[in-house]
Amino acid sequence: MTRTDRTTGETVGKLRVLFSELYGVRPSIYRAPGRVNLIGEHTDYNEGFVMPAALDLYTYVAASPRSDRRLKAYSENLGEKCDFDLDSIQPGKSGHWSDYVRGVAGVLESSGYQLRGADLAITSEVPLGSGLSSSAALEVSTAWALLSNSQINVDRNAIPQLCQQAEHLYPETKCGIMDQFISCHGRAGHALMLDCRSLDFQLLPVPSQVRLMVCNTMVKHEHASGGYNTRRRECEEGLQALKQVLPAIRALRDVTINELEQHRERLTPVVYKRVRHVVTENDRVQEAATALSEGGLAHFGRLMADSHRSLRDDYEVSTPELDLMVELANGQNGVHGARMTGGGFGGCTINLVDSGHAEEIQQRLAQNYEARTGLRPTILICEASDGAGAVAETSR
Ligand code: GLA
Repeated sequence: MTRTDRTTGETVGKLRVLFSELYGVRPSIYRAPGRVNLIGEHTDYNEGFVMPAALDLYTYVAASPRSDRRLKAYSENLGEKCDFDLDSIQPGKSGHWSDYVRGVAGVLESSGYQLRGADLAITSEVPLGSGLSSSAALEVSTAWALLSNSQINVDRNAIPQLCQQAEHLYPETKCGIMDQFISCHGRAGHALMLDCRSLDFQLLPVPSQVRLMVCNTMVKHEHASGGYNTRRRECEEGLQALKQVLPAIRALRDVTINELEQHRERLTPVVYKRVRHVVTENDRVQEAATALSEGGLAHFGRLMADSHRSLRDDYEVSTPELDLMVELANGQNGVHGARMTGGGFGGCTINLVDSGHAEEIQQRLAQNYEARTGLRPTILICEASDGAGAVAETSR
């Protein structure tokens, strides 16, 4: 039995009990995973390349239909309820977790899906706000639940963009497409190399002896109020300035490093660094895809190290805690590569490690990190897992 099977059984069992206590009926259950990004950070909204994997950590939404047009939801993690009328949802941010639920319902309705009212109960294994894409897991699992609950066929290809739109219009984070996409399209044992312009993707097997070690620095990121939207604006500024001399470019994805160097004086020093990160990171993702498919783990690891440096020095989204976690991992036997993962400003690092060494690395890293910072990190040994779907009725 894998960790996913075990946690699904336990989590689903508890969620069913909770649901019948709250609403007095037996629900159907849907789930969507969090993700870790192996390489390709802050490239998605520049129409570039990313390489995430879905994690064996899921958000579960239990649902049953109502006869009216209300949407009620209960978050087990937060112990809080919310309640909306499907006919009066308006875009805009309240700052409450329910913005994600309201946002998905609002965008589905405004995109022409006629939803039924629903009672929902939500529980998540994805640590909230730690850069493992708990928001996308909540959006995608909610979309799955609301559509299925309304007997509408769920189109795996349509969900990522609808959920991304919900995140733009309601919590008002201008996220790219990566998180919602991998939450829908993840595959067990595989990373996914995504072209964020065409949305073509390639599944790349993760070697069976490799584990995805996710290290939570316990310093929380704040996307919206932090620098995420600022970084997007800086990229946009770089794009507009470069377009004046490179009229054929549509996004930073189209800029080469030579072109950037040639027109460097058109950009402020800060914008130049931001663009340099995006341009070099896109090249790294493509090189990493080749390395992974050829089993070149040492090469992959060097690209992860370069990615981390670029995020730290050029994109300036790392933190001292992320840098320390990476530095501590790099010294360990059995670690192929380490870098910060996700949007940054805190959150998690990802290490690619050999399964035979994983537990020893986990323990040593936790001890060393705590000794240096006084913070006790959560370090998880994960496997690449499947994307969103309905949970079989037979799961307890
Ligand atoms: C967040 C966003 C993604 C992506 C990453 C950075 O996770 O939701 O779209 O931009 O940051 O790579």
